[in-house]
Amino acid sequence: MKIAIFGSSGQVATELRRRTPVGVSLITVGRDTVDFRNPEEVFAAACDMDVDAIINAAAYTAVDKAEEEPELANAVNGASVGELARACSKTSVPLVHISTDYVFDGSGQSPWTPSDETNPLSVYGSSKQMGEQLIAEREVTHAILRTSWVFSAHGNNFVKTMLRLGAEREALSIVADQIGGPTPAAAIADACFAVAQGLSSGRSSGIYHFAGSPDTSWADFAREIFRQSRQTVQVTDIETKDYPTPARRPLNSRLDCESLNTEFGVERPDWRVSLSAVLKELGYQ
Ligand SMILES: NC(=O)c1ccc[n+]([C@@H]2O[C@H](COP(=O)([O-])OP(=O)(O)OC[C@H]3O[C@@H](n4cnc5c(N)ncnc54)[C@H](OP(=O)(O)O)[C@@H]3O)[C@@H](O)[C@H]2O)c1
Repeated sequence: MKIAIFGSSGQVATELRRRTPVGVSLITVGRDTVDFRNPEEVFAAACDMDVDAIINAAAYTAVDKAEEEPELANAVNGASVGELARACSKTSVPLVHISTDYVFDGSGQSPWTPSDETNPLSVYGSSKQMGEQLIAEREVTHAILRTSWVFSAHGNNFVKTMLRLGAEREALSIVADQIGGPTPAAAIADACFAVAQGLSSGRSSGIYHFAGSPDTSWADFAREIFRQSRQTVQVTDIETKDYPTPARRPLNSRLDCESLNTEFGVERPDWRVSLSAVLKELGYQ
């Protein structure tokens, strides 16, 4: 099976390159080749590909910065994703696209199901919602995989931020009223390959959720990072309102991941186990 991935050096893209299953050959398309700021480039490139599936791991992910540059976020996460779907529809190539818990407004306490109404709080969230909607409008075999709180040994993420801050400070105040599932990029990559293969063998198109288990708060996530990396850092719980950021974030990011398991046999990974692997890779264990 031949799969093209958009994204090359991002967290998920890196793991897709590292974890390519036996029997799959991969074509990687970085932003130096196709720039998602230009949607027409994306359409032309995707139409030219002779592949069995496309996985889109490219995105504008600077959540706070997006508040200042909505046009850019919408071009990369919205219009270009729509052009990717148009190309896949034209060539009949299944599309696996990664989206986010930030399409939800974070109300309530129940895990969000894939069919729940979206209502993003931020420019980033609404740009990702736009991408989802533009895929859904096309006659294209697809899976939209919403995930949350991505971490890995590379790129920018909460784990690496905590390790850096933990080396500088003895105490940190961390938000404790946002709840979600930290998700290892490695597990997202495995899920993407399973879904791409599943779609090619007739599994159902649609929106699916995929997040690490168990759900936790950022503060408890930080505590586990410091416990496993043997750093002595006092973590104090604070509320979102005490840590203002340009972009609003959902309080409830719990994702109901059941349908992904039922349709593709992909289970939620225990993020604490994956955290250990990431810390080993970074030399902390
Ligand atoms: N990070 C999170 O916590 C989080 C949470 C929920 C959902 N997600 C979603 O998960 C997916 C993967 O995220 P990630 O954490 O792997 O992101 P990341 O580490 O920030 O990587 C972003 C990727 O997007 C590509 N990219 C950015 N701007 C581009 C442009 N103008 N043209 C072409 N490519 C461009 C980069 O390409 P190069 O490799 O060429 O630099 C890179 O591969 C995204 O869809 C994101 O929305 C992430």
